[in-house]
Amino acid sequence: MQVHVFQFGANRVQLVIGRGVIDQIGCLLKEAGVITSIIILTDDRVGPIWAGGVRNSLESAGVGFREITVPAGEPSKSLAQAQRIYGEFAAHSIGRDATILALGGGMVSDLGGFVAGTWMRGLRWTVCPTTLEADVDACLGGKTAVNVPGGKNLVGLFHQPFLIAVDPACLTTLEPRDLRAGLAESVKHAILSGEDSLAWLESHAERILSLDDDALEELIARNLCFKAGLVAQDVEDRTGARAALNLGHTIGHAVEEAAEFTQRHGECVALGLRAAMRLSKEMGVLDDHGLQGRVEDLLDRLGLPARIPRDVGTEDVLDALRRDKKAEGGEARFVLLRRAGEPVRGVAAQEAMIRRAVEALKSS
Ligand SMILES: NC(=O)c1ccc[n+]([C@@H]2O[C@H](COP(=O)([O-])OP(=O)(O)OC[C@H]3O[C@@H](n4cnc5c(N)ncnc54)[C@H](O)[C@@H]3O)[C@@H](O)[C@H]2O)c1
Ligand SMILES: [Zn+2]
Repeated sequence: MQVHVFQFGANRVQLVIGRGVIDQIGCLLKEAGVITSIIILTDDRVGPIWAGGVRNSLESAGVGFREITVPAGEPSKSLAQAQRIYGEFAAHSIGRDATILALGGGMVSDLGGFVAGTWMRGLRWTVCPTTLEADVDACLGGKTAVNVPGGKNLVGLFHQPFLIAVDPACLTTLEPRDLRAGLAESVKHAILSGEDSLAWLESHAERILSLDDDALEELIARNLCFKAGLVAQDVEDRTGARAALNLGHTIGHAVEEAAEFTQRHGECVALGLRAAMRLSKEMGVLDDHGLQGRVEDLLDRLGLPARIPRDVGTEDVLDALRRDKKAEGGEARFVLLRRAGEPVRGVAAQEAMIRRAVEALKSS
């Protein structure tokens, strides 16, 4: 088991990673001074598999709880679901002494953090992530949100969980496609972090895919500690340090939108990473000429896509890029790379180069 403690502004965040951690959540919460009024928020796919262990653990630690379940899937990350949850809080007189425990993937943690941050101006919350996407990315950083018709994650707030308890055993029930998708964020973190992290991921890819416990624990720790370093420098994503985490996400988000959210986020990020490497090379930013091939090979070995779905056209992706909410004056900005560990932020690329990078994803 690994334990790490981070300080994000005024907030202390404890991270515990290890197989079986979910069965110890009652003790961990008790140690943190939480003895009553836990609300387990989960979805109807995760709950039947993993909530039992959490319930048993809370019961044996003598910690009181109730449970709220939302339908699995991104559409539940909505104001409508938040409102339903507030209704349950009101019906059960949930006060400021309550603690939300979000048990699920990034959908549940974003929604759980959002209702925790908004109910009575803020309840404490903790998260037990159950997908790789959430284990290596969504559970840490304090970004919480719901989607509205105008776009994803447009309504939200920064609200840090005080405890992140990651049990890699949860990954054993995840669809293989979801596991692979989560690994795209790990590739992103490894490239941003530097040569040592990239080489570690290259040499552990097969062990990770076969769900080796030690490899997963190390993977999650490496990813979250790296992300925590950036978050600590830029807690509310204002100074630019966190912006590096957008690597692969500019074209990635555009593909995700153009494909009408039929592809996994991580699959689109993998395509975005391939495009970002190509742009880095074509714009003469990339100093390490071997890096592009290494990233392509690693994404291939992890089973991540190299092509945009056939029914999504280059123009659809370019249109989505123009609508990007982070675009400045209608011009998309990219995070590119000089070498592993040396991102270059805020780069504007010529339309023709962007078009070539997208077309390469259609033909490769
Ligand atoms: N806040 C952040 O910093 C941040 C970062 C990255 C992603 N996100 C958000 O996370 C969301 C995507 O997260 P996700 O990919 O985890 O999706 P998700 O939470 O929708 O989970 C994907 C599917 O897997 C199921 N599932 C989850 N855990 C399982 C398990 N252990 N066994 C079997 N099935 C399981 C879920 O029920 C769901 O059907 C998006 O809304 C994205 O915006 C947030
Ligand atoms: Zn992402």
